Amino acid sequence: MSVDMTVRIGGLQLRGPVMAASGTFGYGTEVPLLERRALGAMVSKGIFLKPRHGTAPPRIAETPSGMLNAIGLQGPGAEALIRDYAPQWAGWEFPVLVNINGESVSDYGELAARLDGVPGVAGFEVNISCPNVEQGGMYFGNDPRAAAAVTEAVRRRTRLPVWVKLTPMVADIGVIARAVESAGADAVSAVNTFVGMSMDINAYHPRLSFGTGGLSGPAIRPLAVHLAHQAARAVDIPVIGVGGIMRAEDALEFLIAGCTAVQVGTATFVNPKAIADVHDGIAAYLATKGFASLAELPRYLPRD
Ligand SMILES: Cc1cc2nc3c(=O)[nH]c(=O)nc-3n(C[C@H](O)[C@H](O)[C@H](O)COP(=O)(O)O)c2cc1C
Repeated sequence: MSVDMTVRIGGLQLRGPVMAASGTFGYGTEVPLLERRALGAMVSKGIFLKPRHGTAPPRIAETPSGMLNAIGLQGPGAEALIRDYAPQWAGWEFPVLVNINGESVSDYGELAARLDGVPGVAGFEVNISCPNVEQGGMYFGNDPRAAAAVTEAVRRRTRLPVWVKLTPMVADIGVIARAVESAGADAVSAVNTFVGMSMDINAYHPRLSFGTGGLSGPAIRPLAVHLAHQAARAVDIPVIGVGGIMRAEDALEFLIAGCTAVQVGTATFVNPKAIADVHDGIAAYLATKGFASLAELPRYLPRD
């Protein structure tokens, strides 16, 4: 029996619920090994209007059941993205959303306006949650007014779907989710990495040159499931669950917790076909349980 895996999310119809998380799939073109067969959508590596070098190495450190990264949003800038990547995306059979970043509210709006209407750009994931930049980033995701202002600035400059990527580093993620929903977001992605630190005990300083980094991977999964669930309880727009998904069973936890779709990040570094494996595993699980579609999966979403 073939299972209907399609989902409608934030203004887009996707062929499946599993997407590539920003920053873990590049621009989708660099590594031929990366398996694109089962992608519901791809979110590009985060980009600013102008090119950025990111932070100095070392940028990555392995930790128990996870990793710390401080890439600092290295990227080629909007003009290079339009020239080098978007034309390739235009021919793909799944949508590509651009993860957009800024140091000010107006930066975000300007970047959305520049990319709006570019063939190959299907929508935006607004990153208000990067822990690895000096200006902007997580600051916007910590304050409901700033989060709403950024969302509104993007919303005003595009008709494309606008998803907002939330930080876990907040007291109440529901407050931020509601703020961006009111400001016009079509969906939220929950969550970005947690701020962490690891010390080199021989060099007497942090293992990452930036000092701190974003923790991802299975270590954060139960935290992320909880936060995605909190967000799903707070808003009516779809929630995309992300954090520590390695296998189909992990993705199913997010879906049952109230998410409409999921993103897979760090797992791709371990297994370049992790996304296809997760997609196929969800379909097999649904078939075994006797569900004809993903929509039939029971959700645990008590309303307050
Ligand atoms: C190396 C690396 C780079 C990342 N870059 C971005 C980025 O540019 N924009 C963004 O919103 N999230 C970025 N993230 C966060 C991921 O998209 C994801 O939210 C997080 O890693 C948790 O999911 P995971 O445990 O499946 O990796 C990055 C994560 C990693 C590991």
